[in-house]
Amino acid sequence: MAGITHSAFRRLLADFGGYGALFTEMLSAKMILQEDLSRSPWLKRRPQEGRVIYQLLVVDTDRLPAILERLAALAPDGLDLNGACPAPTIKQQRGGADLFEDADRLRDIVRVLRRHFAGPLTVKIRLGRQTPRWRARLGERLRLLADEGVDALTIHPRFAEDKLKRSARHGLYAELAAEARLPIIANGDIMGPDYVREHAASLASAAGLMIGRLAAMQPWIFAQWRQPTMVVQPDAVWRRLYDYIVEDFAAPQALARVKIFTAYFARNFLFGHTLFKTVQVAPDLAAARTRADAFFATAPARCRSPSLEGI
Ligand SMILES: Cc1cc2nc3c(=O)[nH]c(=O)nc-3n(C[C@H](O)[C@H](O)[C@H](O)COP(=O)(O)O)c2cc1C
Repeated sequence: MAGITHSAFRRLLADFGGYGALFTEMLSAKMILQEDLSRSPWLKRRPQEGRVIYQLLVVDTDRLPAILERLAALAPDGLDLNGACPAPTIKQQRGGADLFEDADRLRDIVRVLRRHFAGPLTVKIRLGRQTPRWRARLGERLRLLADEGVDALTIHPRFAEDKLKRSARHGLYAELAAEARLPIIANGDIMGPDYVREHAASLASAAGLMIGRLAAMQPWIFAQWRQPTMVVQPDAVWRRLYDYIVEDFAAPQALARVKIFTAYFARNFLFGHTLFKTVQVAPDLAAARTRADAFFATAPARCRSPSLEGI
């Protein structure tokens, strides 16, 4: 997740454990040629993170073999191509959801990725644009990706126009898995073990689950999933991530990351908007820390069922 699953956040998730693999933020493929692999908070990985899959924003095949050769130094446990992101800035670059629409360009890119990377290759997609032909076009894309040697798909079953509105259509996985002849990782709105139990019939044909915003709000979720009685001190988690972010990022970038994380984390509390608002307008890192400390000093009540509505 852009702005969230950087090296500092992955380090925090690794402290808790419980997941099968982590995905990086969507990485501009061309940026990989410029970044310092051992220091970049987008690229570097720590051994305790376990499996790390690098998600790429690729818009053409220009220099792609050289990019993959450079990335190989980090020994990615998998590569994931973003064919899902509906953000206007990404679509303007012809990436994400725009790439999904362009079958020829998608095929060319996947072909080069497959030729130069022997490990697990996945593609993240949505349902495409909501046109009368959406279902036929989705079927065409599934076959294209299977034919080009992709190993699995992550499907966030919303239309590109939906952004995060409406509900994820998990009921589609069974037919999509059969059509793709590929394992499908389910994604979208998965709010924990209770949600999975309630949607067990729809999720049964998925080979795995991808959790996004819930992990941003509760980085301990994977550990707690395995150990439901686990007790967490949220304020200690916030402070720990703050320290990790300050360690990995330069100050202005660090402040932005603290703010992005806090928007999700604040949802854990009954009056979390107080934490959210005060940190969002903090002029610098020290102020963000002092303000969060002041909020935690009030022993804020936790929400029983925190919601991710609207973010
Ligand atoms: C702030 C934010 C950043 C995101 N960045 C990415 C990204 O870089 N790559 C990606 O594939 N999806 C990205 N997504 C989409 C999520 O991976 C996921 O598909 C979506 O949030 C639905 O899953 P969830 O309900 O578990 O969050 C992002 C979502 C949010 C809210």
